[in-house]
Amino acid sequence: MDMSNSRRIDLIKDTVYCFVCPESEVLSVESIPMPSGSQAVELMRNKVRLQQRAGIKMGPDAAEEVSLVTKQATFVERSALSRLFSQAANVPFSLSGQPLHEGRSLLCIEDVDHRTDYSKLDIAALQDKELRALAYIHYANMGCKCDLPWLPKVDEAYIAEMISEQWRPSWEYAKGNPAFAGTFGNGIISSIEDIAGRIVEDMAPVIHDESTYTMIHNDLNPGNVLVKGNDEVYFIDWEEARYGSLFMDIPMRCGSLQQAEDYRRYLGSLGCCIPDQDFTGLFSVASRYLGLRFMCWNLGVWQQNEQARNGLVKYMEMVTRPIFS
Ligand SMILES: Nc1ncnc2c1ncn2[C@@H]1O[C@H](COP(=O)(O)OP(=O)(O)O)[C@@H](O)[C@H]1O
Ligand SMILES: [Mg+2]
Repeated sequence: MDMSNSRRIDLIKDTVYCFVCPESEVLSVESIPMPSGSQAVELMRNKVRLQQRAGIKMGPDAAEEVSLVTKQATFVERSALSRLFSQAANVPFSLSGQPLHEGRSLLCIEDVDHRTDYSKLDIAALQDKELRALAYIHYANMGCKCDLPWLPKVDEAYIAEMISEQWRPSWEYAKGNPAFAGTFGNGIISSIEDIAGRIVEDMAPVIHDESTYTMIHNDLNPGNVLVKGNDEVYFIDWEEARYGSLFMDIPMRCGSLQQAEDYRRYLGSLGCCIPDQDFTGLFSVASRYLGLRFMCWNLGVWQQNEQARNGLVKYMEMVTRPIFS
């Protein structure tokens, strides 16, 4: 067995000890590489067979077999998951072998959805739970800048870089194809370009809204929001987490006025009330920015992939017609 394999197995054993059952013994581990997203880091799903020691009862969640994910995770992701788990937020349990190491290092994470049957879900109930869980995360970390020195901050330079380095090249690439204007129309295209041209300026009120500063996930695409056990929503992949306004998260998860209102109500019931006018104004600007930021992947593949095309339409609407407009 090579060194990285044996390190992974040791970390899996420690994770079982800490979070599954301290009395059970790991019999075998079968590790299968998982398709990774944009970052292409090492990601494995590990099927772990356990032996219960004689006379010891396992906890309610423990089974003969557990599934754990291992990922080469950044310091920010490992730190965010650890803090949020300690706050009883909806994130998977996780254990790092080198919690203080500032580069990437191996993290062993609860496999959130290996028992979820995605064909049998009550979507409306789950969306509601998701908004509650997100409001809790935002509330629990509101104004906690001093506790989060490891979390990068949102500023104008960050937003400007996203637009010039990510959005602009993908947009120009898409425009190079005559079918792009033919499909989406010149009106929409020039309206998106106008909005993108002033988005850094327009985002200033969001960037500087200190009253809503908290830990934001900052990458709430559908792949990072998973259902656990058919009835809970968990947030994974905290690699892009930052300290900034909660408005940089919520338009990604509130696709209707009702959902935005529900989120606002949950936040209010925890003790953070945002006045109507501020909420709609900041939400709309952030929606425009997020539509631009998240359409980048879709701009490259919309012609080959029906889902990517529908996603692109949705992101274009977030830019041109935020839900409060
Ligand atoms: N803890 C987990 N439980 C279940 N699935 C996971 C877990 N971590 C990652 N995955 C799966 O792997 C995909 C990629 O992992 P992720 O952590 O989001 O990394 P990235 O998107 O940066 O490649 C996720 O979208 C999800 O499908
Ligand atoms: Mg991801």
